[in-house]
Amino acid sequence: MNSIEWMDGSVRFLDQTLLPNEERYVDTDEIEVMAEAIRRLQVRGAPLIGIAAAYAIVLGVRKAAGGPRRLFADALDASCALIASTRPTAKNLFWAVERMRNAARLNTHMAGDALYASLVAEAVAIHTEDAAMCAAIGEHGARLIPQDAVILTHCNTGALATGGIGTALGVVITAHRQGKHVSVFADETRPLLQGSRLTAWELRREGIPVTVIPDTASAVSIQKKNIALAIVGSDRIAANGDAANKIGTYGVAIMAKHHGVPFYVAAPSSTFDRAIAHGDAIPIEERGREEVTMCGPVCVAPPDVNVYNPSFDVTPNELISGIITERGVLLPPFTESIARMFDKRGAQ
Ligand code: MRU
Repeated sequence: MNSIEWMDGSVRFLDQTLLPNEERYVDTDEIEVMAEAIRRLQVRGAPLIGIAAAYAIVLGVRKAAGGPRRLFADALDASCALIASTRPTAKNLFWAVERMRNAARLNTHMAGDALYASLVAEAVAIHTEDAAMCAAIGEHGARLIPQDAVILTHCNTGALATGGIGTALGVVITAHRQGKHVSVFADETRPLLQGSRLTAWELRREGIPVTVIPDTASAVSIQKKNIALAIVGSDRIAANGDAANKIGTYGVAIMAKHHGVPFYVAAPSSTFDRAIAHGDAIPIEERGREEVTMCGPVCVAPPDVNVYNPSFDVTPNELISGIITERGVLLPPFTESIARMFDKRGAQ
């Protein structure tokens, strides 16, 4: 299953808002359609948002690539600004926009066709590198998974959210493929239900036993259902290891700590934001009130009630047992282990 694909001049993506009821792909060569798809969570999950951003920028500059340099620079600026305005929290989106900008800067001397081809190549590289990072995260993380483990997860972090097998879910899938007989408790993940709609759908396709629970049942599940560990993804990780992820993750980390259950974050290096010292400075998206007051077409709250709908929260580093990256598992103290990881392999 490919959640996104470059189709030689256009993008094909799976509309995740329709899952699990309908598997519908959308084809487009319009950057505006891609921007709206990111905003509406038709494509979602931090790594996938980065990949979608890169392809969207290719679509945005396509027509200007063969024209005067000034027009190309304007199209690039406008495309990057449009994509950067879609969702604020996932670092991967801004990381991908920067990579596309740098590729364009390095190749401005090229003729139109070659310049366009170099941007396509950069976007495809972002996609294939993400798949490789997922595979490596899966290998490193699977070493932490005991035989017969019952694993708690939150939101969706699998193939739907990335260019490969996933981050946190990639770890689960790799352990499963190694024959470890794992099973998963998936938080439904209110209000947009990425856990029940997407994670349960993906795990069943993989043949991994999954039990969907309301978010409100994660405490009692950790207490009574023999959960061996919790593992989640992340949208942005600060220099000290504080990690933003889907709303509700912070609560899961507190519960895990209370019960002495390890809590792991799995994310590629493209999710780290070393310019942000700690989690308080991570921009947190707030979404529309209707996501909370409506359940499909049905109103489930007084229509004019006050609503607070943050899409993400930040788990403080002291609640995190380890951060699983493509370069290995980082352990506390994270300020040091994160700095070491980047200093060893070159800056972001
Ligand atoms: O709002 P979403 O569905 O894009 O949020 C996604 C998450 O919070 C994921 O856990 C995170 O992006 C990591 S995906 C590998």
